[in-house]
Amino acid sequence: MSITFQSGNNGLVMYALNCDWTGGDIGSTLDTGAECGLDCVNFSGCTHFTWSSYNGGTCWFKNNNVVGNAFYSSSAAVCGYTVAGQVAVPPVNQTLNPLVYITPRSWEDSLALAQSVVSQLTLEQKVALGSGLGWENINTPCVGQISNISSVGFPGLCLQDSPTGIRFAHNISAFPASINVAATWDTQLMYDNGRYMGEEARDKGVTTHLAPVANMMRTPQGGRIWEAQGADPFLTGVSVTNIINGVQSNGVQSTLKHFVANDQEAFRNSDPDHGDSFVDKKTLMEYYVRPFKMAIDNAGPGAIMCSYNQLNGLNACQNPAVMAILKDELKYEGYVMSDWWATGYGLPEISGPNSGLDMVMPGTQACCSSSLDQPFWWGATLVNDTIAGLVNVSRVDDLATRILTSWFRVRQDADFPVNNATNVNFNSWTPATEELNVQRNHAAHIRAVGAASSVLLKNDGVLPLTSKLTSITLIGSDAIYPPDGPNAGSDHGIAPSGTLAQGWGSGTTIFPYLIAPQDAIESVAAGLNIKVTNSSNNWDVEAATAAAAAADVSIVFGNSDSGEGYITVANFPGDRLNLTLWNNVDALVEAAASQGPTIVVIHSPGAVNMPWINHPNVSAVIMAFFPGQESGNSITDVLFGAVNPSGRLPFTIGHNDDDYVTRINFTDPNVTYSEGGYFDYRWNQKYNITPLFPFGHGLSYTTFTYANIAASAPSCTSSVNVTLDVTNSGSVDGHEVVQVYLAYPSSVTDEPAQQLKGFTRVLIAAGATQAVNIEITQDDIAVYDVATSSWVVPTGTYTVYVGASSADIRGTASFDSGPGCEVATTETSASSATSSATASASASGSATSSGSVSATGSVVVSSSVGYIAPSTIGSVVSNPGNLYSDAKSISFAGLAVVAVVMLM
Ligand code: BGC
Repeated sequence: MSITFQSGNNGLVMYALNCDWTGGDIGSTLDTGAECGLDCVNFSGCTHFTWSSYNGGTCWFKNNNVVGNAFYSSSAAVCGYTVAGQVAVPPVNQTLNPLVYITPRSWEDSLALAQSVVSQLTLEQKVALGSGLGWENINTPCVGQISNISSVGFPGLCLQDSPTGIRFAHNISAFPASINVAATWDTQLMYDNGRYMGEEARDKGVTTHLAPVANMMRTPQGGRIWEAQGADPFLTGVSVTNIINGVQSNGVQSTLKHFVANDQEAFRNSDPDHGDSFVDKKTLMEYYVRPFKMAIDNAGPGAIMCSYNQLNGLNACQNPAVMAILKDELKYEGYVMSDWWATGYGLPEISGPNSGLDMVMPGTQACCSSSLDQPFWWGATLVNDTIAGLVNVSRVDDLATRILTSWFRVRQDADFPVNNATNVNFNSWTPATEELNVQRNHAAHIRAVGAASSVLLKNDGVLPLTSKLTSITLIGSDAIYPPDGPNAGSDHGIAPSGTLAQGWGSGTTIFPYLIAPQDAIESVAAGLNIKVTNSSNNWDVEAATAAAAAADVSIVFGNSDSGEGYITVANFPGDRLNLTLWNNVDALVEAAASQGPTIVVIHSPGAVNMPWINHPNVSAVIMAFFPGQESGNSITDVLFGAVNPSGRLPFTIGHNDDDYVTRINFTDPNVTYSEGGYFDYRWNQKYNITPLFPFGHGLSYTTFTYANIAASAPSCTSSVNVTLDVTNSGSVDGHEVVQVYLAYPSSVTDEPAQQLKGFTRVLIAAGATQAVNIEITQDDIAVYDVATSSWVVPTGTYTVYVGASSADIRGTASFDSGPGCEVATTETSASSATSSATASASASGSATSSGSVSATGSVVVSSSVGYIAPSTIGSVVSNPGNLYSDAKSISFAGLAVVAVVMLM
């Protein structure tokens, strides 16, 4: 059967095959851009759409049941469509290359192969290997490109963002943000996320993927925190290691970025006020370099991207100390590329290569100017500088060798498919024409990660939703399909008009489709006979109140956006100016809660303020981050219990903007990391500040108990096994994330009290008990010794804290380690405790783990370094460092931590 649709206002005529289309006003929502919206009904069952006059591009269709991506092959004159959760249907005459998985060569073998090629290259060719071909050049379709050298069979390199997939390409998948990936605490999902992004990179001809990001969430205001993995170096290291291994299993190189201490957008590259991160060596190595070290040791990324900021006074990409950390201390054998135009200071042609930079990106011209009188970066200029003796030939040999070593390591010499760097299947700089659909079946994975990363922060039993409900209302524009489309704004740099599933900047991808919560919820609710209403105007609080009054349960959807600093959105210059939910959402929550049970779903790059959290009718809160294209399906799976939530916070949520150790100073380019490693939970623990939700927190629809916690190690220099039994003591199956925090021997005085050093996510059937083993390696334990510039394992007795969050410790064990320790002992200290137990009662004077602290006389809240933001502990606002002369009775409720006071 073939049905002719109405003609749209751009002259589009659409046909559908093999289905019963019952009509709809498609013309009313068409526009003339490359993307058009078709608002139809009853498309289910259709297998193909064709257009009689349409010159290609991506076309959207949407109805109550199906939201998908229609695509068009001009050569075959055939359209197809993909629907979330289904295998993609590529245009008929386009077939994907078979998937090819590789095992990387050893660095040693790769180096030997590279050296033999470099020995055949001219100086110009060696320099060309490290010189980008430019930006926005129609002949170089990737955001970064290296020319081919045909004499040695090198096809060139195509470098393309992003952590959410393949930027600027079409018919790709929009993967979840990395903060979601980290929030799963699941190493397999991390690996799979890399593997599937790598498949799409390979299919599109991307040789070098510009991800993942290992920068730290030093402050929740950081604009790019959603591109990275949270506030802990160990969790970050595990996440990026697995992502890289997944990507590189396809023979695609990963680029781990941005090295180093690039943790905010403010002043990121504004010469002459070029931001400068001042970080002492120990802090730098243990918190900011450690995740890079873990990835170098355990995955071996093809490239590492140095960052925009200065480190301790010198531009990171022209900074010998930065390069020495990578190449001398960490023994990194791949290549270091610059961030885009990050070598814009001083004499980049000389200082870059001489400091150890191997590749300049994007090359050709200085930032943001197409003027041809700019010096070539590097190209001919570096050739001349080398001939003039300003740069050593051996340095040029080295950079060329490193670039080819990484190329050989992932076997791009043997295996890379037809769509190679000179024949990529997209062009970043032109409107989409015909592009391979490379989504394969990745939608299922994306949906699963979206659900697995949803963190259930609070639940009084309202969730999961059941068929006992008769009505739900969805409040807030974040519930709906974006009226402006999901791809409005260059790199999504525009205030969201509907649901938000990515931030803005180079970390984005073009959504092939986006499932809005409203569509997915309506579809499931229909099957359960639950009526769904909505109120999506955030400024109409009266309407929200009325909708809430008429429904059994309200679900308020709210968001907060952030991104890369080259775009300002709603006055937010990349970094977030504050942590308030956007567009009046706090008022909507209050309005809904005034009427009855209210669930709040948050789409945000990180922490937001929740001033309504203690309202008795705020029954549940879910932090869903930026889940990508399957957003609506993922959250619906969690809301209705198809997926039992197991996401855990990869950072701490404070009570308000001031409840974090660091805030971005928008007027001072010099950023001193004076807090050392004491940010996020390490700060909360040091000063016994109870956050709103602690690092590692997340609830389930079931409960787990821990027993038989023990630690053992065969020798002083071996890995440690932490073992325990976990029982699912509830009535539904679920994943538990067991977390291991380490305390150093008492002789070590400059390490935080507890640091994450191990975790595992296990699926346990209701009523079942599972033995869990978590290995902590010597590398994980090692601390950085500044005097010897080396990593050492302190000798002595270590304590492990095993728990369900950083503040919900269920038991402890200890082991001995380090050179010269006696044979390790095994010690068990119990506990099948089900609630928070450990008091880090480090206070002198009077302190206790829960309940209340009474102090008479003068009280000073423990603090030593710098400015610590005030925080609320119970009814007392304590400002660490401040002296309180009145008698205080400090009471507090919360998840574990204590008020630490010293009596004077
Ligand atoms: C970003 C990088 C990105 C590069 C290329 C820069 O602005 O900082 O993360 O890979 O652009 O798009």
